[in-house]
Amino acid sequence: MANQRFLVTAALPYSNGRLHVGHIAGAYLPADTYVRYRRARGDDVRFICGSDDNGVANLIAAHNENSSPEEISARYNAQQKRDFAGLGVEFDIYGGTHQPDYVDLHNRTSQEVFLKLHEKGCFVKRTSEQLFDPQIEKFLPDRYVKGRCYHKLPDGSDCDYPGAYGDQCEHCGNSIDPVQLINPVSTITGSTPIPKRTTHWYMRLDQFEKQLRTWLDSQTGWRPTVLNFTRGLLDEGLPERAMTRDLDWGVPVPLDDPDAAGKVLYVWFDAPIGYVSFTAMDCRISDGDESAYAAWWKNPDCKIVHFIGEDNIIFHAMIWPAMLMAEGSYELPHNVVANSFLNIKFPGKDEEKISKSRGSALWIEDYLQTFDPDPLRYYLTAIAPETQRTTFDVDDFLNRNNSELLATLGNFVNRTMTFAHKYFDGQVPVAGERNDTDLAQLEACKSCVESAAQQLDGFHFKAALAEVMNLARKGNGYFDATAPFRTRKTDLASCARAVNICLQTVRTLTTVMAPFLPFSAVKALTMLNLEPDALQWNRATDELPAGRSLGEPQLLFKKLDADELFDD
Ligand code: MF3
Ligand code: ZN
Repeated sequence: MANQRFLVTAALPYSNGRLHVGHIAGAYLPADTYVRYRRARGDDVRFICGSDDNGVANLIAAHNENSSPEEISARYNAQQKRDFAGLGVEFDIYGGTHQPDYVDLHNRTSQEVFLKLHEKGCFVKRTSEQLFDPQIEKFLPDRYVKGRCYHKLPDGSDCDYPGAYGDQCEHCGNSIDPVQLINPVSTITGSTPIPKRTTHWYMRLDQFEKQLRTWLDSQTGWRPTVLNFTRGLLDEGLPERAMTRDLDWGVPVPLDDPDAAGKVLYVWFDAPIGYVSFTAMDCRISDGDESAYAAWWKNPDCKIVHFIGEDNIIFHAMIWPAMLMAEGSYELPHNVVANSFLNIKFPGKDEEKISKSRGSALWIEDYLQTFDPDPLRYYLTAIAPETQRTTFDVDDFLNRNNSELLATLGNFVNRTMTFAHKYFDGQVPVAGERNDTDLAQLEACKSCVESAAQQLDGFHFKAALAEVMNLARKGNGYFDATAPFRTRKTDLASCARAVNICLQTVRTLTTVMAPFLPFSAVKALTMLNLEPDALQWNRATDELPAGRSLGEPQLLFKKLDADELFDD
């Protein structure tokens, strides 16, 4: 197949905090794995991310940390960059919707989209009563207000969750109209807000209901969780949604209308446009031409793939596509790949939801102080919450590192490399005449390359990784069965044949492990004395010629134990 073009995005993290394992498992690791795979296939890929700096989440963090939203978003943006780099999640660009180098281009891009929708009559301007904190004289949109949820649960009982935010109830998952909250409280002052009239621009999502449904129905290869959730939303009918806010932090509403003064775009309006403005910035930096973003966003031959967490489905599979349909000149996403959340289980404690406020999170920054990135990448893919919530169990993480990554993959590579060094002078031994067992092992290499590709093409990362591990397991089986450690003394030719096959298997493993375990793949490349282009997918079963010199053996993985992770 001819090379394809992909624009891959991962949800923009709010720049109000650090990243934990749940974030990585949800969007960033599958996105990075996919991008590495596509590049190995020879595809032309741009991988875009950056921080979501606007909106109330950031203002609250600034308030709590006695700081400004500029300072908070700069600090966490930088921290996030370090965390991603440490894990080998390699974006082409990591922007930020309010970072000094990005804010002008981002505001302009967002305002252009807003104006286009405005011209096309997609908004209605309405004045209504909204919650207002008289103490600080501010309106209280979104997370600025908390109260009791007014929704019903699927079983018909009241949700009644007391900590529902003004935008969403985290207990029942429904979106919230803040004025309907029971006993609302300002999250800044704790006072009871009063209703006050204000004007906003509401997007008429109902205009796109039919088009959205037809579009969704034409999708193949989407996860059923994403399709079903979005269809469910469409079935309920699409209410108008305010796309502006009374805040002084964000993208100014670009209308020449006194009612627009002092207002900004809703953060969920401008944030996905960040994908576009960061692409434009990336084009400006790399080609000196920001308008080249169109080759990615307005090109029917470019596939746009969004990787997100489950709470973002409504925005990426419904509201953002509706915005793009309304705008008219952009391509719609080719796929929206959503994972569920992770729970966490620390040794000796109960399984729980990951929560920053309760301190039940494993932070990337902390993890990376002690451990290598690949064991985490391995575990988060092995337990990927692709169809439902799964649990990061710290004991299980350590066990699987030791019994799978180290004992299966690491062991196979290590025993093969050290054997070749010790008994074949660090060279690939002659293949000789291969028997059925040998050929079957080479066949296993070929079929691993194919089946892993098929799983990755279908966004089944966990299953793809299982194919890789399966080949390592077969390698160990072959090593045990052909027993070069015995034939070395009795039949040197068959010993050489077996080690040759094992080395060919290591060679294939190097390419297929690379999207998942990039740091270890580079080590394996060095051991095989190959150049980085050997990671191209279609070269995975290229044979290492007899006589080739190998590099020094080195261990791919280490045994891990719990004390290292929690020495405090
Ligand atoms: N900041 C949002 C979150 O963490 C994600 C924004 S994704 C974007 O849930 F598309 F809006 F950018
Ligand atoms: Zn609720």
